[in-house]
Amino acid sequence: MGYPHPSHAGEHPVLSKHFGDAGARTFDGWVKRGGYEGLKKALGMTRDQVVEEVKASGLRGRGGAGFPTGMKWSFMPKEVVKPHYLVCNADESEPGTFKDREIIRWTPHQLIEGCAIGAHAIGAERIYIYIRGEFTHEHRILLAAVDEAYKGGALGANVFGSGRRIDVVVHRGAGAYICGEETAMMNSIEGKRGNPRIKPPFPAVAGLWACPTTINNVETLAAAGHILRQGGAWYKGLCRGNPKSTGTKLFSVCGHVQRPGNYEVVMGTSMKELIYDMCGGMRPGRTLKAVIPGGSSVPIMTPAEVEDCLLDYEGVVAKGSMLGSGGMIVMDDSTDLVYQVMRLARFYAHESCAQCTQCREGTAWTTRILEKILAGKGRREDLDLLLDLADNMTGKTICVLSDSCAAPVVSAIRKFPAEFDAYISREKQPVMVTA
Ligand SMILES: Cc1cc2nc3c(=O)[nH]c(=O)nc-3n(C[C@H](O)[C@H](O)[C@H](O)COP(=O)(O)O)c2cc1C
Repeated sequence: MGYPHPSHAGEHPVLSKHFGDAGARTFDGWVKRGGYEGLKKALGMTRDQVVEEVKASGLRGRGGAGFPTGMKWSFMPKEVVKPHYLVCNADESEPGTFKDREIIRWTPHQLIEGCAIGAHAIGAERIYIYIRGEFTHEHRILLAAVDEAYKGGALGANVFGSGRRIDVVVHRGAGAYICGEETAMMNSIEGKRGNPRIKPPFPAVAGLWACPTTINNVETLAAAGHILRQGGAWYKGLCRGNPKSTGTKLFSVCGHVQRPGNYEVVMGTSMKELIYDMCGGMRPGRTLKAVIPGGSSVPIMTPAEVEDCLLDYEGVVAKGSMLGSGGMIVMDDSTDLVYQVMRLARFYAHESCAQCTQCREGTAWTTRILEKILAGKGRREDLDLLLDLADNMTGKTICVLSDSCAAPVVSAIRKFPAEFDAYISREKQPVMVTA
């Protein structure tokens, strides 16, 4: 498409193998590279067999929560009484995360193939791909690929002669982070305001238009074609020893590293290997101060926690944070952490749907207190107030947007108290905080 791709395929490219290869973008190009073989194989299997293969792979959702994908698919009713739907979450609005966009940009058929496999496994005839509104370029690429997939027989009334009907509707978002939350996304697709819904009922029981629905992230679905083609056991073998976290994962690394970009590594790779060997480490003369490993919604990690952290679901939890979406924000010693968490809190305050009091008030109040501290007007009690507020924002709302705001703030106060003290004691010059 006329500009260099910013991605760096890591040591084990599966999903990113064809990033930078414009030939892989077309239907014929994807087929030449072994594409759609996984879908053809799946169509020759029963729904249960496909689900079992994905269960055997150990694949877990790459959208943030890490829920086992095969198990999620198995929750869908066996009998198709009402229509079943698959929703592909391509909203990707989490700060620091830019991997799904890259999958769509370079390999849209990788996603369409995975979606069609998912649809077959859950008994759905229709897939909604909900793409972030700002992804104008990727939206165009996706529409062209869907068109080609219909012409090539990978979508439509009789997919690859199987008698199976699978249709894709591409739905463009309008720029709201909250619409990435699965039930808000369903409301948005239905033409309503993107407010999260109270669960239960869970989507597999009553999702889109109260019909059984499964929702998966782009990266999760993109892995399905490879799993079907090469087998669940092959995918499960792609890890460094932890059978609970298998396969490869795309990490979007941004911030103060020398080579930011998307890196695909096997689960269990060390965080240091990714930051220092693959991304080239810090800028000259700088040292590591902190990392937010899973998009912006998870606790901040210290250099000591990064030191021997393994990049898999359990490895990052063992260090007090979460793998989340795999968007890694790396900050060196030039970073003002109070300012950074204020910027994040402001983002969450702006994006709160405002349904829940704890979130609506909590995100805004957190932002105001942090702005006050930065302006040199903070008091020691403000830190206790922030922690108390965070406590009221965690585990008490319809969705986890307010928890996402609280996590980086609490961890910054607990792990980097000197940063706050410097403003409160007036040792550090106040910062002009603009809106
Ligand atoms: C506020 C909020 C925003 C979210 N944004 C996204 C997103 O942009 N992309 C995504 O895949 N999941 C996002 N999620 C998670 C989804 O709700 C859901 O768990 C995910 O799409 C499930 O797919 P998976 O099982 O394949 O991970 C978000 C969750 C919350 C609470």
